[in-house]
Amino acid sequence: RSSPAAAPHRLPFSRITEEDLALFREILPGRVITDPDLLQSSNEDWLKSVRGSSEVLLRPQTTQEVAKILSYCNSRNLAVNPQGGNTGLVGGSVPVYDEIILSTSLMNNILSFDNISGILTCQAGCVLENLSLYLEERDYMMPLDLGAKGSCHIGGNVATNAGGLRLLRYGSLHGTVLGLEVVSGSFKSAGINSLRRRRKDIFFSFSADCPFYIVIETSGSDSDHDSQKLHNFLEEAMTSSLVTDGTIATEDSKIKALWSMRERVTEALTHDGFTYKYDISLPVERIYQLVTDMRQHLGNRARSVVGYGHVGDGNLHLNITSPAKDPALLASIEPFVYEWTAKFHGSISAEHGLGLKKRNYIYYSKSRSAVELMGDIKMLLDPRGILNPYKTLPDHLK
Ligand code: FAD
Ligand code: MLT
Ligand code: ZN
Repeated sequence: RSSPAAAPHRLPFSRITEEDLALFREILPGRVITDPDLLQSSNEDWLKSVRGSSEVLLRPQTTQEVAKILSYCNSRNLAVNPQGGNTGLVGGSVPVYDEIILSTSLMNNILSFDNISGILTCQAGCVLENLSLYLEERDYMMPLDLGAKGSCHIGGNVATNAGGLRLLRYGSLHGTVLGLEVVSGSFKSAGINSLRRRRKDIFFSFSADCPFYIVIETSGSDSDHDSQKLHNFLEEAMTSSLVTDGTIATEDSKIKALWSMRERVTEALTHDGFTYKYDISLPVERIYQLVTDMRQHLGNRARSVVGYGHVGDGNLHLNITSPAKDPALLASIEPFVYEWTAKFHGSISAEHGLGLKKRNYIYYSKSRSAVELMGDIKMLLDPRGILNPYKTLPDHLK
């Protein structure tokens, strides 16, 4: 493991045996991976900040196969780490020790799309971008978009309730999920809602040497009305000198090019070496103060202290980079960052989730009773605690 200090002790789960592997091979012929080279990338997170030591990765294709695997693992007390696109940023997607990796990568079928209600039904392993392309061809869209769209799975998006670039416009992802098939086998739900047709209209971005750049995309059902509103907004913003420069894009290729500059900030930061990443929500008027206070607090100990995010959602991504992992730097950042956030009534986990990395800081944002309730719900659904242990809940509730 690369971060033993952050890891809880291994819980007394069973170790995998040859009999277990034989059973998995029976359920998933040709889809049980034990080759260490093939397992390597699934054991390590996207940021290359945490690494597990799983010896087996399972690739089911159907819900029934997942049910069989989980029922067996439950009876054998084997821990399991569900994994989608492995783009999570809080160490939730990879094993901590030798948990079995249950990958949804082969569960990538779109099951149905109703072009009257706009309801899409698909398997958990569908890549978000593939769903978007599929819907675009039918003049519909996903209410979710994020920089990891080319790799993340819809199941991972729902599991983390990913926020992303369209939250301000379309609301929380959970509000658009109508039903889930979950593998405890006893719970199945469906719902009906109508999704509005939407057309992309105009996209606006500010450029030149400004301290802040904002990307705004409007979307509505009447493009003339949308452009009129945007025009009024721009007129006011320019005459009041709130905005110094900008560009408008209406062509798809230019819209994509502008978004890609925003979406690729995460990747760009990895070129600095190692990134300490914080995902904070704050009252909007405070959103950048944490960046400037952190810069002052760290002085020249960090390579860079960068803030970006989703300003309309009051969501700041504070990123502190250094050439390599630096425990002394980390000790200067934490708990300063959490104390600062709590002082201004923010949340220490806005959209990325708690995963492995933030689990023990939950009390900076949530009350004891709320966390205990989360523990009770987890216990109800997963009484032996085999599903993704060591994550989300603080150690004392494990
Ligand atoms: P994984 O990383 O594989 O897993 C994440 C968690 O979900 C793990 O705990 C895993 O066990 C669980 N999980 C996965 N699939 C299932 C399933 N089928 N059933 C039960 N549990 C499951 N996040 C945002 O919120 N907003 C952003 O704007 C955003 N942008 C990003 C940009 C980049 C470049 C990157 C690398 C990441 C970004 N993320 C963002 C974080 C990440 O992409 C999201 O959290 C995403 O939803 C994770 O999906 P995934 O399929 O990769 O899940
Ligand atoms: C984003 O908004 O770009 C994502 O949440 C990823 C990140 O925080 O770097
Ligand atoms: Zn984000």
